[in-house]
Amino acid sequence: MTHEIVVIPGDGIGQEVTPAAVDVLEALDLEFEFVEADAGDAVAEETGEPLPQETYDLAAGADATLFGAVGETAADVILPLREAVESFVNIRPAKAYPGVDALRPETDLVFLRENTEGVYSGHEDRLSQDVSTLTRVVTESASRDLAEFACDYVAGDGHDGFTIAHKANVMRETDGLFRDTVAEVAEENGVETDEVLMDAFATHVCLDPTQFDVVVCPNLAGDVLSDLAAGLVGGLGLLPSANVGPERALFEPVHGSAPDIAGEGVANPAATIISAAMMLEHLGYDDEADAVHEAVETTLEEGPHTPDLGGDASTADVTEVVIDRL
Ligand code: NAI
Ligand code: MG
Repeated sequence: MTHEIVVIPGDGIGQEVTPAAVDVLEALDLEFEFVEADAGDAVAEETGEPLPQETYDLAAGADATLFGAVGETAADVILPLREAVESFVNIRPAKAYPGVDALRPETDLVFLRENTEGVYSGHEDRLSQDVSTLTRVVTESASRDLAEFACDYVAGDGHDGFTIAHKANVMRETDGLFRDTVAEVAEENGVETDEVLMDAFATHVCLDPTQFDVVVCPNLAGDVLSDLAAGLVGGLGLLPSANVGPERALFEPVHGSAPDIAGEGVANPAATIISAAMMLEHLGYDDEADAVHEAVETTLEEGPHTPDLGGDASTADVTEVVIDRL
């Protein structure tokens, strides 16, 4: 079966790391048809539109989308693209790799973040000069979708269970509904859970990240806490992510367009290649996904390294070695 993969390189180093990941995918010789599409600052400058309708429609119709990074137009591009794939969960692994300097080398976490509501649902008002308000939306249905995904995820990946991070002691209605629904779904599925207040989690994860494994959280908490964990593992160039919907999904590195190094050919392609490995897993190519993960891990451990990791290799050098190691 041929899979249509939409590839959106975007701006800056997106133009460098995305083709690198596509080279790795092509080396696997699978039945993929790659369709390239525009988004970001450059296309906005040309056409006035950071996310052309054609790109949105392609992402909304493809089996999977691989996204690089865009610049200042990020919010106008990535939020609608997540919507195009109806993504209800954002998967963000934060793993420290041997060979990479990390604040907490023992970190190996996966955040499963609610991706549609909470304080990011867009209900903000300026009532007066003095007062602005925000409506926080939590639904049982979105919490249930996330929890069902989390149960499948931990079962499929051999985890013992998951931790629910929330603040239901203060936000009793919203996070209360979130926590109760997620815990209930886990119980229905025979999955073990524990709970932690999200602020306490921030402290505990810094002191000892091995206390946690898979962490399920509301939208804002997941955004902030996974960025915090990114700080523990040493470097934005290493963090992949997936936005998964019922039928489609979009895979992207966590980093942005890195204008400070764009055009030099030295961006670390690891985050995007690992995102591509997550895409392989999502499409059912487990062996190929493992092979890509292993090739990247060996390369992080043994080199060559791009300058962000203290080396002097180029994006192309690293990509070539990863492909050789497949
Ligand atoms: P950034 O992630 O682009 O860069 C932060 C720092 O990390 C820079 O020093 C950069 O050189 C370094 N870095 C990031 N990725 C790297 C890689 N693969 N290899 C080596 N070094 C890497 O974040 P910043 O500087 O805050 O934002 C730059 C632009 O990116 C902004 O216009 C922002 O709006 C956009 N952005 C886009 C995102 C997206 O498309 N999803 C996400 C975050 C930012
Ligand atoms: Mg963020």
